[in-house]
Amino acid sequence: MKTAITVANRMSSIQPSYIREILSAATAPGIISLAGGLPASELFPISLFDQALASLSLVPEVYQYGETQGYPPLLDYLNDRYEVANGLETMVCNGSQQAIDLIARAFLNPNDSVVMEAPSYLGAIQVFGLAQAKIKTIPQLADGPDLIALETLFGTGRIKLFYAVPDFHNPTGISWSLQHRRRVAALCCRYDVLLIEDAPYRSLRFKGTDLPLVSSFCPERAFLLRSYSKISAPGMRIGTVTAPTVWLNPMITIKQCSDLHTNLPMQAALLFVLKHADFPKHKENIRKQYAARHQKLSAALSDKLTPDCSYNTVNGGMFIWLELPPCDAHEVAMQALREGVAVVPGDVFFLKDHSVAPALRLNFSHTPEDQFIDAIGRLKIALEKVSERAC
Ligand SMILES: Cc1ncc(COP(=O)(O)O)c(C=O)c1O
Repeated sequence: MKTAITVANRMSSIQPSYIREILSAATAPGIISLAGGLPASELFPISLFDQALASLSLVPEVYQYGETQGYPPLLDYLNDRYEVANGLETMVCNGSQQAIDLIARAFLNPNDSVVMEAPSYLGAIQVFGLAQAKIKTIPQLADGPDLIALETLFGTGRIKLFYAVPDFHNPTGISWSLQHRRRVAALCCRYDVLLIEDAPYRSLRFKGTDLPLVSSFCPERAFLLRSYSKISAPGMRIGTVTAPTVWLNPMITIKQCSDLHTNLPMQAALLFVLKHADFPKHKENIRKQYAARHQKLSAALSDKLTPDCSYNTVNGGMFIWLELPPCDAHEVAMQALREGVAVVPGDVFFLKDHSVAPALRLNFSHTPEDQFIDAIGRLKIALEKVSERAC
């Protein structure tokens, strides 16, 4: 049918996600996938959720429409658990992804400037693109963002938001040092920039001790996003945003327009799971399993790929960033798929036209421990074939 109707102009500022596209190929039989950002499905707390769902008959009101900000008993529990300060409030969202979108819709006008680290989380790049923001990037160093580049951008006086993932970054796995945390918070205060601290991997630390949240140094100008996707189950779609009440209010209005509220039975079920005596054990088990998977992947990389390639070991999260010798990382990813292993080329996490050293993002949370040697063996063959073709 012919029609003169076209999609909105803002659609031209987002690309379909390469990862979504590769995921269907990555799930084909025989493929070992290090591509997705998926938690281990076999570690989901299914028996806790079974009990939680059975318990909902005791709170039938959760099947009624509810409050946009969230299920009050869950909000009370979270505010207590995280000791949310006076003047700050929390809202429950459909994953932390929705929180990023609500912030963008509430605070960004077209052409407003947002700073991100390069590389950065693809889902956030898409949201800011859709908001028609001007995205500026700064390099990411081993212990946090390049502070000189950050201050130079902030100093222009035109930056509204700084989006960051300070704990076990997606895609690089990097965590910020304490000094970086303090300095970034101080810069946000000095230059009147709002910080979005996106912390979905923070609870996945398997080594070392937690550092303070960046937002704890500048609570009056930060949005803190938490996610329950990685420590319980992503299909639930529950995350939260905590921010000063005055900033949360416009976001609540937008969420009301968007979906009225997040699924109430799921919020009640999550509350049951979080309060359950076995939940700490469940979290500990995830950390233990991910530590073992990280160790196996690192060992396979050391064994088969160094010294041509280099990688960072991490103390938590789900990803390792593998730097490759000069080559086309896309070609390596395509050849790797033909060899039976799915990986993501690093440049998809950068803005278009950004010049990028060849790298791959490798996920270690989703693959059983005994498959890493095989997976990296296949990757090695792919690298060799691509390098032979280039000669
Ligand atoms: C950095 C980052 N932020 C947000 C999200 C979205 O998480 P959620 O499932 O809570 O929406 C992800 C998902 O992988 C992520 O990596």
